Amino acid sequence: MNITVIGAGYVGLVAACCLADSGNRVVCVEADDDKLALLGQGKAPIREEGIDQMLDRCLQKGSLSFQQRIPRPVASELAVVAVGTPSLPDGATDLSSIHQVVRGLRDSTDGKLTLLMKSTVPPGTGLRLMRRYLDGTDISYVSNPEFLREGQAVKDWYHPSRIVIGTNDAEAGDMVSGLYEGIDAPKLVTSITSAETIKYAANAFLATKISFINEIANLCEAVGARVDDVSRGIGLDPRIGPDFLNAGLGYGGSCFPKDTRALNLSALSNGYDFRLLKSTIEVNGKQAIMAVRKMNSLLNGLDGRDIALLGLSFKPDTDDIRESPALNIASLLCEHDVKLRVYDPVAMANARQLLPEEVIMAPDLYTATEGAQGVILATEWSEFFKADWARIRKSMSAPCVILDGRNALSQEKIEALGFRYAGTGR
Ligand code: UDX
Repeated sequence: MNITVIGAGYVGLVAACCLADSGNRVVCVEADDDKLALLGQGKAPIREEGIDQMLDRCLQKGSLSFQQRIPRPVASELAVVAVGTPSLPDGATDLSSIHQVVRGLRDSTDGKLTLLMKSTVPPGTGLRLMRRYLDGTDISYVSNPEFLREGQAVKDWYHPSRIVIGTNDAEAGDMVSGLYEGIDAPKLVTSITSAETIKYAANAFLATKISFINEIANLCEAVGARVDDVSRGIGLDPRIGPDFLNAGLGYGGSCFPKDTRALNLSALSNGYDFRLLKSTIEVNGKQAIMAVRKMNSLLNGLDGRDIALLGLSFKPDTDDIRESPALNIASLLCEHDVKLRVYDPVAMANARQLLPEEVIMAPDLYTATEGAQGVILATEWSEFFKADWARIRKSMSAPCVILDGRNALSQEKIEALGFRYAGTGR
């Protein structure tokens, strides 16, 4: 099939590469000059397992090409829209790129086209876009949300837990279903608005699971229980399930924070007060504040202290720092007279632009921690598990506190080395 993919971010580039690698001819449209230049040299502007090899293969085969504007006319049967839908200052979704692209596709299409919406748009958006731009055209609209996780997006594309196809046009639905031929996953055909809602409900539920376990972790600290055991104990119930029960500093990234805020506002604008979701968001924001308070009490005050912050990305194995709790922690610490050194295996360059100027970027873990009185582990990179903590202990200054924000280290081993250890709900 000839396919146009609009947007070469995490979702668009993964979709373009996977579709081109499975026998389709794909033109991927990316407006950003810098990204386009990288892509032209066969380099992915995102860090994603397997993407570079796939990009290379598809460019060699000629099944994938990049250009800056939507082709006119759109010489394909299918257009995949995967442009960003960032948050506006009030938390609502900025749909300006979506409008621009849908209008652009309409103006560039003479014949039949199926428009597949992969971008996350609030419930009701698809129907509004259809009414506004597509009435009277031969363009069909399908909502086909993605559930890709950063760092595992290519794997998730080929092994999804489900494929959701929201449409009121059976023929267009069949075409989209055909894209996933050979992929073993349940297919769920729904209305457009239900498909849009599934995407938000999935993210809101997972975010709520995380906030729930974080609340339980805080309770564990109050009553003297251990959240690791509580998570295991409840996760063994198949109705609850073991995933997304790791307590920590809260969720970050490009999806959960943005989508929970957007769903909350979308509910309000439709006359519904989604109280549980509001609490999920509030609890998430509280975790970083509580970590800084905890460090404050462990060090008997933060002023004049030397602190190391380990991990800046919102989760391990990515250089993505969007809405990373580590950045909030850095900003909160900088409200005090703290000497703050930070280190992350891959996210240093991205983080530098967002961190307060006075934060010192350390070249490695050992330089970051040398002389520090306290260490906060904010992202569970495997490099930190494998570190020589005995060496770190020797180079730190009293009282040698480790605040393990992700419960990633062995409390026993760390305490045996003479550290003062505090976890989250441990
Ligand atoms: C998420 C969804 O998983 C994916 O389906 C959707 O398409 C996009 O958003 P992603 O943002 O890549 O994917 O990250 P994910 O692995 O889900 O983690 C999100 C955040 O939750 C991270 O900050 C992570 O540290 C945190 N998290 C996750 C926890 O704090 N505890 C957990 O148990 C799991």
